[in-house]
Amino acid sequence: MAIEFSSTGGDEPVIATKVLPEDDGEISLRPKRMQEYIGQEKAKSNLAVYIEAARMRGEPLDHVLLHGPPGLGKTTLASVIANEMGVNMRVTSGPAIEKPGDLAALLTNLDDNDILFVDEIHRLNRSVEEILYPAMEDYALDIIMGKGPAASSIRLDLKKFTLIGATTRSGQLTAPLRDRFGVVERLELYTVDELAMIVRRSAGILGVEIDEGGSVEIASRSRGTPRIANRLLRRVRDFAQIFSGGRITRAAADDALTRLEIDKFGLDALDRRMLGSIIENYGGGPVGLETLAATINEETITLEDVYEPYLLQQGFLTRTPRGRCVTRRAYEHLGIEFHGQTSILE
Ligand SMILES: Nc1ncnc2c1ncn2[C@@H]1O[C@H](COP(=O)(O)OP(=O)(O)OP(=O)(O)O)[C@@H](O)[C@H]1O
Ligand SMILES: [Mg+2]
Repeated sequence: MAIEFSSTGGDEPVIATKVLPEDDGEISLRPKRMQEYIGQEKAKSNLAVYIEAARMRGEPLDHVLLHGPPGLGKTTLASVIANEMGVNMRVTSGPAIEKPGDLAALLTNLDDNDILFVDEIHRLNRSVEEILYPAMEDYALDIIMGKGPAASSIRLDLKKFTLIGATTRSGQLTAPLRDRFGVVERLELYTVDELAMIVRRSAGILGVEIDEGGSVEIASRSRGTPRIANRLLRRVRDFAQIFSGGRITRAAADDALTRLEIDKFGLDALDRRMLGSIIENYGGGPVGLETLAATINEETITLEDVYEPYLLQQGFLTRTPRGRCVTRRAYEHLGIEFHGQTSILE
């Protein structure tokens, strides 16, 4: 089943020469080397070993699958890996590769040890995906010549490359594709401390003055996500510039984030609507995700990929076989009286 994201048009170029454009303007906040890449210690330390070993052998890195919620740094990590390996990276995405020939063209243009980065790899179509199997396994392309009984297949050798796939939905990858990745790393939501470091680093690059309290305030309201932390930093900077002389303190950050309707836990209006709807319309749950999405007029996939991970992590929501339930903490946070309820787990 193909899932349509409205953000990706069909007429995007298949190959981008540079790393993907950033969501945040001209100045690049993307870390370039492993040392600047904050957090994700487990993934980083594993990858550091694989990178060093591959470099010592003069071989390409094994194929890597990076998965996890949006904005946690999958694309960034892929380009960090390319920099650490000292190789070129070609960037494309699942929906941009329409025909097997598109992928074949990409693969034949790679040099030894190069990286091909395929974003949203779960959205590759099946006929394209099948080209990848021999390419990943044997560095070869099988090309069918002619049609019908006269058809014959020739094998074309490729340079030894590394495929890095990124996905927010690893569950949608087919088993044969998934099995061909030697390295699978899941990125996790960041801690407040890690996000505060990211905010301070970004503030330094942007030339914004921020104190400890200001960076912690932004970090703790960024739902564990660096992309959100950077976005909030830019918005808070605007408010601070107009209202408090440009310096971001805890009070300035709190004031700006409150204006943006981002609460103490980083929940925004949609989070609160989602939790509120489960309480008001479904007695706290359980309610199926699709039903809930229809009720609040949102895409199921947005709720699942973007909203749920943080609400689950923060203990506002639980997942049960019969659907989603809010927790007592959600009632308390929304200021709704809790009358006890059988489906609630705590
Ligand atoms: N570990 C990190 N340290 C510092 N900054 C980071 C880190 N990870 C991500 N960022 C910042 O967060 C932004 C979002 O990261 P990135 O685009 O790599 O996320 P993604 O996982 O690829 O998201 P998507 O699933 O939407 O493609 C980047 O522009 C980068 O500046
Ligand atoms: Mg990305």
